[in-house]
Amino acid sequence: MSPIKKATLLIKNIGQLITMEGDGPRRGPAMRELGMIEHGGVAVAGEEILAVGNSDDVEGKSPLAHGCKIIDAQGAVVTPGLIDAHTHPVFGMTREKEFEMRLEGKTYMEIAEAGGGIRASVRDLRETPAEILQEKTLRRYDRLLAHGITTIEAKSGYGLSTDAEIKSLKIIQDLHGHHPLEVIPTFLGAHEVPDEFRNKRDAYIDLIINEMIPAVTTEQLAEFSDVFCEEGVFSIEESRRIQQAAAKAGLKLKFHADELKDTGGAELAVSMNAISADHLMYISESGIRAMAQSNTVAVLLPGTSFSLGGKQYAPARRMIEAGVTVALSTDCNPGSSCTESLAMIVTLAALHLKMTAAESISAVTVNAAIASDRADRRGPLAPGTQADLVVWAMADYRELPYHYGVNLATRVIKRGKVVVGNTK
Ligand code: NIG
Ligand code: FE
Repeated sequence: MSPIKKATLLIKNIGQLITMEGDGPRRGPAMRELGMIEHGGVAVAGEEILAVGNSDDVEGKSPLAHGCKIIDAQGAVVTPGLIDAHTHPVFGMTREKEFEMRLEGKTYMEIAEAGGGIRASVRDLRETPAEILQEKTLRRYDRLLAHGITTIEAKSGYGLSTDAEIKSLKIIQDLHGHHPLEVIPTFLGAHEVPDEFRNKRDAYIDLIINEMIPAVTTEQLAEFSDVFCEEGVFSIEESRRIQQAAAKAGLKLKFHADELKDTGGAELAVSMNAISADHLMYISESGIRAMAQSNTVAVLLPGTSFSLGGKQYAPARRMIEAGVTVALSTDCNPGSSCTESLAMIVTLAALHLKMTAAESISAVTVNAAIASDRADRRGPLAPGTQADLVVWAMADYRELPYHYGVNLATRVIKRGKVVVGNTK
């Protein structure tokens, strides 16, 4: 007989405990089901959830380990740790100058064509020592965690040479275990064609396929491969070639798709059985239908429309009504969405995607877990799942989109440990 597990952490008096109980992805009306327990409690044993239920029942039935930490939530909301399924956190300089240029009327693509944009970040990352990049990345991890995000997917893509892509992915790998934030690495060598290959893009694609992907997979530096599939960046055919090579090498697929124009990126992602297609501001009706009939998750990033000052947002309502699995993410990056707050994204999703608070919570928990291939341990809060939790300074979960521009995550728990807001 295995020894009885004892609680090492007990959270009681939770006004609204959002468990996300239920199986599989949340699609359509199921996105509004939060598995909410009023006056809830959670017991944690080590890194895992031990019990979830009514506060008094959980407290009465869970044997407490010596030194068990007890948090009285005093009626606050508790949710699973948020998952940010699309970030670009490894970069050096910020690009606030481009933000101002856009206010003066320049477009994202015009700035990129004039040598700014991703290529400017690439020149900077190549020159910046790894220690400095690591320090900047760590501070971004701190801010993500402080905002209630306990797991992220993190892309390379500001290196665009074999060495600089490896340098970026090694920063992620070296930080593993040195920060509570859990980080799932993605190779994004196809983020842009770098300056030195501008007139020989086929040679750059060959380099990605013949040198970068083998180097990344040999050193086990990434779990996913992503491509910026967009007019003026990588075409459908180029994206397909790159992702075929990535899949062959054992990487799972993600796509930046239909962000600035509809190029059929969503359909390509579905046809290649990608785990997610992201952005999708200009997805077509046939793209929506294809995604609804697939397991590919739509990761929507309204922070980019907002920060680029555009009017076009992803057609989230049509996607939800069609039955597409929808997740939301920050897209944290220096160019199109410089934020570490998923709560802010939930506010934008409410105002611009017309998503309810409950739909957005599904989108940043269970559906984001599927988009990161972590659904086995990061789904609903239930005995045996990883104890990643957030205590919010709110009495009603609908405050999440409504009360904006401030951080309401008061305590963040990762693998059973209080990693933010640990007070006596
Ligand atoms: O997700 N779309 C491509 N990549 C980023 C932007 C990167 C940048 O401008 O630095 C994005 O929006
Ligand atoms: Fe992105």
